Amino acid sequence: MNKELLDKVNKRRTFAIISHPDAGKTTITEQMLLLGGVIRSAGTVKARKTGNYATSDWMEIEKKRGISVTSSVMQFEYQGKRINILDTPGHQDFSEDTYRTLMAVDAAVMVIDSARGIEPQTKKLFKVVRQRGIPVFTFMNKLDRDGREPLDLVAELEEVLGIEGVAMNWPIGIGQSLLGLYDLANQRRVELYHPEEGKDRFIALADGKAPAGSPLADDPQFEETLGEIELLEGAGASFDRAKVLAGQQTPVFFGSALTNFGVETFLEQFVDLAPAPGEHKVNGDEELKPDDDEFSGFIFKIQANMNPQHRDRIAFVRVCSGEFSKGLDVTLARTGKQVRLNNAVEFESSARVQVSEAVAGDIVGLYDTGNFQIGDSIYAGKRKLEFPPLPEFTPELFMRVSPKNVMKQKSFHKGMNQLVQEGAVQLYRNYQTDDYILGAVGQLQFEVFQYRMKNEYNSEVEITSIGHRVARWINPDQLDPKMSSSRNLLVKDRFGNPLFLFENAFAERWFHDKYPDVELTEKL
Ligand code: G4P
Repeated sequence: MNKELLDKVNKRRTFAIISHPDAGKTTITEQMLLLGGVIRSAGTVKARKTGNYATSDWMEIEKKRGISVTSSVMQFEYQGKRINILDTPGHQDFSEDTYRTLMAVDAAVMVIDSARGIEPQTKKLFKVVRQRGIPVFTFMNKLDRDGREPLDLVAELEEVLGIEGVAMNWPIGIGQSLLGLYDLANQRRVELYHPEEGKDRFIALADGKAPAGSPLADDPQFEETLGEIELLEGAGASFDRAKVLAGQQTPVFFGSALTNFGVETFLEQFVDLAPAPGEHKVNGDEELKPDDDEFSGFIFKIQANMNPQHRDRIAFVRVCSGEFSKGLDVTLARTGKQVRLNNAVEFESSARVQVSEAVAGDIVGLYDTGNFQIGDSIYAGKRKLEFPPLPEFTPELFMRVSPKNVMKQKSFHKGMNQLVQEGAVQLYRNYQTDDYILGAVGQLQFEVFQYRMKNEYNSEVEITSIGHRVARWINPDQLDPKMSSSRNLLVKDRFGNPLFLFENAFAERWFHDKYPDVELTEKL
């Protein structure tokens, strides 16, 4: 055990915020950045509309559409801890990016709109979080609006997601009549929504009762809340840290990100309760300790042109062990190639700063000239370390793509290569004609692709839909080009492996019947 290194690792908190679009993920992220002193003003509704955009929404297209397309990374210090927040796109068309990001975190914060409850995308993302077995903390947002009954919201966690919810605080009133939050987790106290000018926002309770003369005394709303809390404590689950860490129980906090109510309370407790970086699986089933002396990590994201002033490409590494230092020589497990890490940055909001120190849990950005691919493992020691592959989705939507101006082949190829390496879309070539075909999980990926090709690579592209297809790979030894027909387009992936894009499941069955000995696989 390396005590000094372990002390540093234990100061790290690395998490992602997940939510259905519009639940308030960006708003709460901004409030956290404010609390961390990274930004000075949050981009609220108006600011967004006047062009002062959310700091975590980097890309032009996000600004235009008001959605988070790509995940971004933000780092700051809070209560003596080093926080790494990984933002995730809420839109389902970018699920793959989100899934990969979730592989790089140690905990997740699930933001729920308290008027809407659990929405479809929350459900999907929760499933991934559950598979990973990481702890989930819940923030019931938008308490300033009339929402659903808090008891219902907590019960829904169990009913819909199958996870026990334990209230850490409880709203007194809701919407127009919101009075404050009753702290259940620590001390018996109430945090007031509208504290009197110059007075503390916390009111200490004696025996659960409001002190005489306080805004809560004799308030019928508060009396009602006391009744609810009694009910809750009689029937509800009690907080169990071991269960939380095992992903079996989620602590529930209420608040309003927009009015910055309850966010600080949440963050304070989250930082305290969330786990420090732990062990990682490596080389199959081995466990790698975060305080192992040798540096190692994996690349979970590649992004080009994050900053239009610097046309560059950044590979994001989740550090899993050891300590990063400038000029470190690492081996890229996939190729065995040595790479010197001279230029590494971390992300303080939209500013990049040179990494001074990075240990397990930290996210480091490496300037990349084409060495790295998503899912790559890097290690500094003699022993080869390989992390498990990152999840990959089989595309379901396909498009033919070509440059509008055939004279601009060079920028077309450059953009195409880079965006494909980022994992923004998948690239295939027609087996016979070599034409380019793009594959994606959601339609928006194509739109982003087209937009970025034009804006970042000055290449206007023509895309024509081939529609929904069922992608199935075939063993090259069994392939006979005659198997290709109008209902099963034969293409090759970017590694040259052949696959069929079937028109539908029926066409695939027809193929099976015709060639019963040919084995088709969903993913390589
Ligand atoms: P997202 O990243 O999860 O997609 O959500 P985001 O933070 O962008 O918030 C979505 C909308 O909800 C924003 O309104 C935001 O101001 C609002 N919002 C976030 N937190 C709260 C809250 O605690 N209370 C209330 N009342 N609103 C909140 P917007 O940009 O104006 O979107 P829209 O309302 O114009 O669609």
